[in-house]
Amino acid sequence: MTEPLPHGVVDGPDSITGIVRKAMSRTPDERLRAVMESLVRHLHAFVREVRPTEEEFERGIDFLVRVGQASGPQKNEGILLSDLLGVSTLVSLLNNSAGRGETDAALLGPFWRGNAPACASGDCIARDAKGGEPLEVRCEVVDLGGRPLAGVDVEVWQASPVGLYENQDPEQPEHNLRGRFTTDAAGRFHFRSVKPAGYPVPVDGPCGELLRAQDRHPYRPAHIHFMLSREGCRTLVTQVFDNADNAIASDVVFGVTPALSGRFERQGDGTWRLDYRFVMQPGERRIPKPPIP
Ligand code: BEZ
Ligand code: FE
Repeated sequence: MTEPLPHGVVDGPDSITGIVRKAMSRTPDERLRAVMESLVRHLHAFVREVRPTEEEFERGIDFLVRVGQASGPQKNEGILLSDLLGVSTLVSLLNNSAGRGETDAALLGPFWRGNAPACASGDCIARDAKGGEPLEVRCEVVDLGGRPLAGVDVEVWQASPVGLYENQDPEQPEHNLRGRFTTDAAGRFHFRSVKPAGYPVPVDGPCGELLRAQDRHPYRPAHIHFMLSREGCRTLVTQVFDNADNAIASDVVFGVTPALSGRFERQGDGTWRLDYRFVMQPGERRIPKPPIP
């Protein structure tokens, strides 16, 4: 006859989940307690379903270690992994989309710098003379009731016609294709630029290995990033995409929604034009920390 095991001793795969949950149950921080409780429940259910071999488990841990090792001040492979799994976009939509007609949020991405040069409406943000197809962008910003919002700060940034941001490309001048505008009394601003190109996310690390193993392409459709902020409004971080781009329905980081698919229209003189209306919701003005200092 064996003695009954004291409570807290694992006697097989069925008992461990409850015992781990109990071990964490005195966590004083209520939110941390709830998050970890849910994490353990889902993680254990995942392991029970997948039943990884020990070799697969080692490979998985090695992958995560390499994600950490590939990260540093200039690159965050951890965020990229969350982007490729659709988690970053899910978090952004859950936090920002209340379904009241506000513009969908999209990822901040790694290339926002902050401190973009202040521009007057109508200015050109292409600060070099390196070609590209001229583009004019005309925007209007309104509240949930359709009323114009004046005095909204709008940061704009985009990749070049070869798909590189200024802080990835030593050929581009400082703050090329970046600017900060303010909406007028009618909630409008406009600027000139060059048509952005789509680009691949970095594929030189473990995330690139994962994409190749999954037979996925690494491209984001061409887009322009916008960050709109004003006292009394929830800061809106979003992107407007070129709906004619080949990757519009297969963005590698899943940022495209129907409302964010913009129409870049070719004008009679061969230049391009994009018109877009942003809808902001009431809430807190909050400026994120630049991902790359
Ligand atoms: C971007 O839109 O700038 C971006 C987003 C996620 C990964 C890489 C780039
Ligand atoms: Fe981008």
